[in-house]
Amino acid sequence: MNWRDRPRCDETPAWASLQRHFAQRFVGADAFDLRQAFADDGAQRVERFGFGAAGVWADLSRNLIDDDAQRLLNQLAQQCGVEALRDAMLAGECINTSEQRAVTHVHWRSGSNQVPALIQKAPEATKTIANLHRQIAVSRSELLDFAGAVRADGAITDVVNIGIGGSDLGPRMVVQALRAGGHASGPRVHFVANMDGHELAGLLSQLRADRTLFVVASKTFGTAETMQNAASARAWFAAQGGTDVARHFVGVSANAAAVAAFGAGRCFAFDEGVGGRFSLWSSIGLSMAIAIGRAGFEALLAGARAMDQHFASTPIERNLPVQLALLDVWNRNFHRFASRCVAPYHHGLRRLPAYLQQLEMESNGKRVDLRGRALPFDTAPVVWGEAGSNGQHAFFQMLHQGTQVVPVEFVAVREPAHALAGHQPKLLANALAQARALMQGDQGDAPARHFPGNRPSTFLLLDRLDPAGLGALLALYEHRVFVAGAIWGINSFDQWGVELGKRHAAPIAQALGSRGEPEGATGDPSTAALMRRLR
Ligand code: F6P
Repeated sequence: MNWRDRPRCDETPAWASLQRHFAQRFVGADAFDLRQAFADDGAQRVERFGFGAAGVWADLSRNLIDDDAQRLLNQLAQQCGVEALRDAMLAGECINTSEQRAVTHVHWRSGSNQVPALIQKAPEATKTIANLHRQIAVSRSELLDFAGAVRADGAITDVVNIGIGGSDLGPRMVVQALRAGGHASGPRVHFVANMDGHELAGLLSQLRADRTLFVVASKTFGTAETMQNAASARAWFAAQGGTDVARHFVGVSANAAAVAAFGAGRCFAFDEGVGGRFSLWSSIGLSMAIAIGRAGFEALLAGARAMDQHFASTPIERNLPVQLALLDVWNRNFHRFASRCVAPYHHGLRRLPAYLQQLEMESNGKRVDLRGRALPFDTAPVVWGEAGSNGQHAFFQMLHQGTQVVPVEFVAVREPAHALAGHQPKLLANALAQARALMQGDQGDAPARHFPGNRPSTFLLLDRLDPAGLGALLALYEHRVFVAGAIWGINSFDQWGVELGKRHAAPIAQALGSRGEPEGATGDPSTAALMRRLR
């Protein structure tokens, strides 16, 4: 199938079969029940719904899904041409059609010796991709050399990454995770994203200008928050007596001219095909590379690459990103679950839900298909969460006894990086206990103590939180988002929905700083009244 001719999910025979199957088996008094499914199938259910890839183990058995649904969902992936779109992405075709761009983030984790393996499915693209890989190899080598020099430069004690969205969430989460996993060293690495000056001011008060390197990370080098923070950091640097802006500020961007105009000493470039939320593998990972070093960065890429190979070559039935995406579609479009809770049982992964919110909701929060037709079905659910076990003492009440069913995704790590006795077994026991309690429920001796059970969850497990394992996990999430978008027939790689708010912000910011009548600037009485109060 040509990727351009792929049907949308609701146009396939598999979709109609799934609708029929759902109505017959998952609705009504004798609807599918997880407890009964395990009573019937025992350990075989775990085998059928358990998947391993690139060091990530996934147990999908505690979801509201049966063998027939799984079989039909596999047909759905086939009929929607998921593999054709995947191969087109890997071959560098312009699959981001609304922006006429290829999607190149996967190539940023390819080692030069991996070129043939990744593109073996598209020999005609060999030349273009080989060129891209050569450029990437040069960029990566410059990046890692610079990161190594910063790590070795005793004069620099602090690095501040200024960026937002994909230029912040991924690198920030990775540094936090690998620091907790004992894999970060070198200078302290900080992250500033918010337009709210409290974030930057709070950090600057702890820094010395002569000992700080600012990394201004922005694909466009025009994002309002980042430009404001970068300008304030540069003004602070000058006010502290700093003169060598070129040594203390570097840019990471696809817009080299704007980086030079800002006065940064160097620009670490990357290509337009890398979407912000997929960019941590590219030069946007500079602050990450400074924190985890060359070996750590390369291991992160290698872990992701192992997942890429799995995704590129494993049949749909055993392909972990595909299976997770199919489950997402099943939960969203058939069960109609409006949200998914992510509960990472590792302190280092506490920002994983925030990172996933951008990855999933910016990619797949779309309401029209690739041809511009309004969708008659739902797309991305609300993704939210909090580190376990903290979440248990906040919102798990609702997960167990609330009126909505929310699938929970437990993410656990077997080996801890600390030596404190007693913690890890109890932490993991809590994750297991929650998943079991959600499924089993409890009759209770009063209505308030009744737990309905039959509540779905997925369990993702890493052996340890090291660069390779984390790389594989993040690549898994990226491909899962890609597959769900492919099935829904949407463009997962644009983000026009964030533009309108930006357009409104500029005149309002201008009017807030002037004496003119607010109505003139906004034409909206509610905004105008608030502006009068704010002045
Ligand atoms: O406004 C949304 C967005 O464009 C994201 O997609 C992106 O990750 C973020 O802003 C930051 O963009 P940039 O890296 O160009 O500053």
